[in-house]
Amino acid sequence: MKVNSVTVCNFRNYGDFSVSFDSGINVLCGKNGIGKTNLLEGIFLFAGGKSFRGAKDREMIRFGCENAAVRLNFDTGGSTNELEARLFRGQKKQLFKNGFQVTRLSEYLGLFRAVVFTPDHMDLVKGAPESRRRFLDIAMCQSFPRYVALLSEYNKLLFQKSACLKSEAPDGLLIDIYNEKLATLGASITKSRRSFVARLAKKASEIYSDMTSGGESMKISFLTQAGDADGSDGLAKSYLTLFESKKESEIQRKCCLCGAQRDDFSVHIKDRNAKLYASQGQQRSAVLSLKLAEGALSEDYTGDTCVYLLDDILSELDRSRQEFILERLCGRQFIITCCEDTERVGGKVIRPG
Ligand SMILES: Nc1ncnc2c1ncn2[C@@H]1O[C@H](COP(=O)(O)OP(=O)(O)OP(=O)(O)O)[C@@H](O)[C@H]1O
Ligand SMILES: [Mg+2]
Repeated sequence: MKVNSVTVCNFRNYGDFSVSFDSGINVLCGKNGIGKTNLLEGIFLFAGGKSFRGAKDREMIRFGCENAAVRLNFDTGGSTNELEARLFRGQKKQLFKNGFQVTRLSEYLGLFRAVVFTPDHMDLVKGAPESRRRFLDIAMCQSFPRYVALLSEYNKLLFQKSACLKSEAPDGLLIDIYNEKLATLGASITKSRRSFVARLAKKASEIYSDMTSGGESMKISFLTQAGDADGSDGLAKSYLTLFESKKESEIQRKCCLCGAQRDDFSVHIKDRNAKLYASQGQQRSAVLSLKLAEGALSEDYTGDTCVYLLDDILSELDRSRQEFILERLCGRQFIITCCEDTERVGGKVIRPG
């Protein structure tokens, strides 16, 4: 996988800007606020389907403009492809694949695959479950396009159930119907996440062990409200029982309290919860291992390399971890942002803005 070029128009702080990339290391260099992270955000739109900063589409449109566009030209599996996203204020974004409009995200997610690493990813260990779920979902959507459709159907139903619970007199029968569907879809989501996390855990703990020269162990465990139930049927049954037991509380509190939207995973270092007991350095190594494992898994699943977008890692990580990454990713294309030229990293230097 190789990004050839990206063109942005009225995207964030950019008017019209186009840049081409080398196949190895690319360094986006420039002072604070020049637009380095913005450019990575634009590229990642095509891998994750949305901003990795959690921004809404309209927030990425240049102040004072009505629409924006980002176009990505890249090579994969021996062919060159072009993806384009057009963002509008007050209207859904339009997506184009090689000049033709596509209506569903699932039709183009997975074509371009990238792993992004930003200082915000420390949330993977330190933050709320939402960050870890977002990480899983983005990683899985790139490798399994079916998962995109599953997730979007589940979220739509969850939204409808929430609206029903918020209404003045929630209809108990309607809630039962939603619960039945949410149990089946939720079971498929939880089953996929559980098997993905098992593979991720294996890879990440091997990487963590390498990074710490075998001195420390890291363990990742999947957490779900559906318990240890086996297979889709078992999980669906378990969700249904849970929904029934929480139905009255959900009606009283006017919100959804349980389901696959609560899945999570925990990180333990030397058998202790990393969120509570690990040092900053250990937490950084754990996050880095998870991100490198994400890329390695995607490469295993698809048989092609990913593009690595590394935002500010030079200021965030100490030298030995920086070198670990650079060595580990040898042979891949990566795009790194930094404020000063770093001869040590080498590669093509690009100055946006
Ligand atoms: N929708 C928008 N329209 C115009 N400008 C925007 C928009 N959103 C953000 N910006 C501007 O983009 C700039 C930030 O860009 P970005 O985060 O890419 O900087 P950076 O080069 O990564 O900086 P740093 O080195 O501090 O990380 C800010 O000046 C901000 O005001
Ligand atoms: Mg930045």
